[in-house]
Amino acid sequence: MSVTTALPTPDRYVFDNAWEHARHRLALLEQCADTSTIRRLRSMGIQPGWRCLEAGAGAGSIARWLCAKVGPTGRVIAADLDTRFLEQLDEPNLDVYRIDLRTEELPRASFDLIHARALLLHIPQREEILDGLVAALRPGGVLLVEDADHFPLAALDDGLYAQVFEAFLDSAGRAGMAKDWARRLPTELHRRGLQDVWADCETPLFEGGAPYSEFWRLTLFQARDLVIAEGISPQQIDQWDSLLSEPGRWFPSLAVVAACGRRAMQ
Ligand SMILES: C[S@@+](CC[C@H](N)C(=O)[O-])C[C@H]1O[C@@H](n2cnc3c(N)ncnc32)[C@H](O)[C@@H]1O
Repeated sequence: MSVTTALPTPDRYVFDNAWEHARHRLALLEQCADTSTIRRLRSMGIQPGWRCLEAGAGAGSIARWLCAKVGPTGRVIAADLDTRFLEQLDEPNLDVYRIDLRTEELPRASFDLIHARALLLHIPQREEILDGLVAALRPGGVLLVEDADHFPLAALDDGLYAQVFEAFLDSAGRAGMAKDWARRLPTELHRRGLQDVWADCETPLFEGGAPYSEFWRLTLFQARDLVIAEGISPQQIDQWDSLLSEPGRWFPSLAVVAACGRRAMQ
């Protein structure tokens, strides 16, 4: 593995990897989301020797999986604003890039596969970053984007769970997160000229105390001050936290929208 340093950490990514529980939070996200991500990636025909980009790679489980798939003749770049967890990986065909996708350009026409999960919804410049991801595909290269959307909350819960969760999403929205962006992903890929676009959407339902529950509890804990500023009392947050710890109670997570497309051969 090699590490390239570029820009410093910016001021406003709410779920900063420098937070003391960030590694655990990202591990929970991987535990919850990797099975579905890998199922989608397996359908994309990844070949030994491919050059891949994992954008906003977090703690790197998918970058590692890609390293194994592309083998010694392939290469995987794991790019993130904060690479502290990626630097602990030792796959020989992995390169770690510290990069701010809002301000730095990716190399054009360079990758056979690009994957970005739980990244674009957090960043106000998501449209421009998506332009850059598409431009970074080689002709014939494939892009898989997976992001979360809030619509199941109102449909499946009308109590404290959805109320506090929506307040949390609105507070994160003031810091640039878009809770209703993911539903547009297939259209956004199509609009950028990608071909053979397909998409799916799944809404995990989780039990109190399960990994998804722990992930959302930690996420809200990290954003607690923002949620209180949104008008939710500390007592309501504590009730929400207890509710999510109760085995036998079930909750809708955010929907995961996945969209994939191929750059035209030219
Ligand atoms: C919610 S985590 C998701 C991590 C990983 N994709 C996953 O699903 O397990 C979002 C990641 O995007 C990174 N990120 C946020 N803003 C970024 C930016 N402007 N440029 C590059 N990476 C960024 C964060 O540092 C974090 O590691």
